[in-house]
Amino acid sequence: MDEFIPPYPPRMAKPPSTVRRLILGRRNFLAMWEEAAFELEFSHARMFMRDTFLCNDPDAVQFAFSQKNASFERKAPQMRYALEPLLGDGLFISDGDTWRKRRRIVAPIVHVSRLSAFAQIMVEAAEEVRGRWLKQEGAVIDVLTESATLTAEIICRTLFGRKLGHEHAREIVEGFSDYQRFIGQIDVLSLLGLPDWFPRWQGRAIHRSVRRIHDVLEHVIASYRAQKKADEDSVIEQLLNARDPETDEPLDPEALRNEIAVLFMAGHETTANSLAWVWYLISQAPKTLEKLHAELDKVLGGRSPQLSDLPNLVYTRAIFDEALRLYPPVPILPREAVRDEEYRGIRIPKGSLLFVVPWLLHRHKRLWEKPDSFIPERFLPQSSAGISKFAYVPFSIGPRICAGMSFGLTEAILCLATLAQKFELRLDPRHRVQPVCRLTLRPEGGLPMSIHARVPKKPISVPPSRPGASCPVHDA
Ligand code: HEM
Repeated sequence: MDEFIPPYPPRMAKPPSTVRRLILGRRNFLAMWEEAAFELEFSHARMFMRDTFLCNDPDAVQFAFSQKNASFERKAPQMRYALEPLLGDGLFISDGDTWRKRRRIVAPIVHVSRLSAFAQIMVEAAEEVRGRWLKQEGAVIDVLTESATLTAEIICRTLFGRKLGHEHAREIVEGFSDYQRFIGQIDVLSLLGLPDWFPRWQGRAIHRSVRRIHDVLEHVIASYRAQKKADEDSVIEQLLNARDPETDEPLDPEALRNEIAVLFMAGHETTANSLAWVWYLISQAPKTLEKLHAELDKVLGGRSPQLSDLPNLVYTRAIFDEALRLYPPVPILPREAVRDEEYRGIRIPKGSLLFVVPWLLHRHKRLWEKPDSFIPERFLPQSSAGISKFAYVPFSIGPRICAGMSFGLTEAILCLATLAQKFELRLDPRHRVQPVCRLTLRPEGGLPMSIHARVPKKPISVPPSRPGASCPVHDA
């Protein structure tokens, strides 16, 4: 087993002042924590005029996101303001009736039952990348951008049945990168307790990046409508024809674009970031890489993967699970209490902010052995039984759990299996890797890595696959 501790921002010895914490958090949310935060359980702090609560143990997460979800289903104002220009009232940031109606419309679109049709498209898109990389032996690519263009392409093809194309995929990927650069995760006005109607300043740069993304989405919708064949049964047709479950009215064009923006954004950026982290992690852990190759060779023997291979790609899946633990693409899940609650004898007043922070929870010193080390073996079936589902929440948990979890897991494993069979990526030695988070957690400044065709080695023993096991994605 490799004993590799991948990078994380320095942790402070003592808790900083509130103002200093906010300044640090605004630049990089991951850099605002002191060492002791990785041992906290349920804690309360008063930030300016707001009560804030941190749920940092499995019981507290279960209380907030599962048992009392109705009281904490509203996303915190910071997150709503950060994403509203891009997603409007889309599912990701809505709550109450709007959320319930939209979830009923959007969730079936990416439901696990559609995976058999999606899987083939995912592999085809990954094979195209493979074809391109074969011609780029030795070249240095930015793996973060490569992964994001691949996953944006997959979302477009699976949902719209259309190729997005390199130019449009690049517009989306760059637009979203810019958006993250210009937006502030920590909205100080909300922490000061100022109400929702108080105007928030949003720079012109943010609106420019939003326009860039919306232009592509509107183009995709328009060209789908223009080229649609009479008998075409595309997945997106379901969304275009969706009706309000109560009034039976069709979704208005803005709501439609918002939900498509949610699917594009939630559906490409998260998987892309985690794929990029996997490439980095395996490049630094030779034994892990060797075991991965051995599994891919044994299960696939050189052919492309398919959905039915997933139950046998146990080690590949464990690597991905471990990457999501160390670098959860959504490292903070902030909520606002919509009514008074009480937990462990502590009152949580309406309007307080409540945080589940996968970045802390996934590296909690009492929940994980060697919490900062990269050890995929902890997620193998024989050792993962003790992991509480409320301690490991890269996809969140409870009624607001990621609607595309099975889609994302399937996509990542299939793309990784297709590409890692044939290539090794090596980190540019001049590049210093550091995780950064504004909206999502990504490697700061991208991930420059060189492409090398893989030299097959003598097979070594791999963890036994689970004969007859059901698909781990369906199990999830
Ligand atoms: C590795 C991949 C992914 C990760 C780690 C991930 C993570 C998450 C998380 C943590 C949330 C909840 C955020 C919160 O509660 O504040 C979420 C929500 C969501 N995700 Fe994902 N996601 C992934 C892939 C996808 C994909 C591929 C899709 C669609 C194709 C998708 C669609 C959504 C949607 C629609 C929501 C909003 C659900 C709701 O609020 O009801 N995600 N995701």
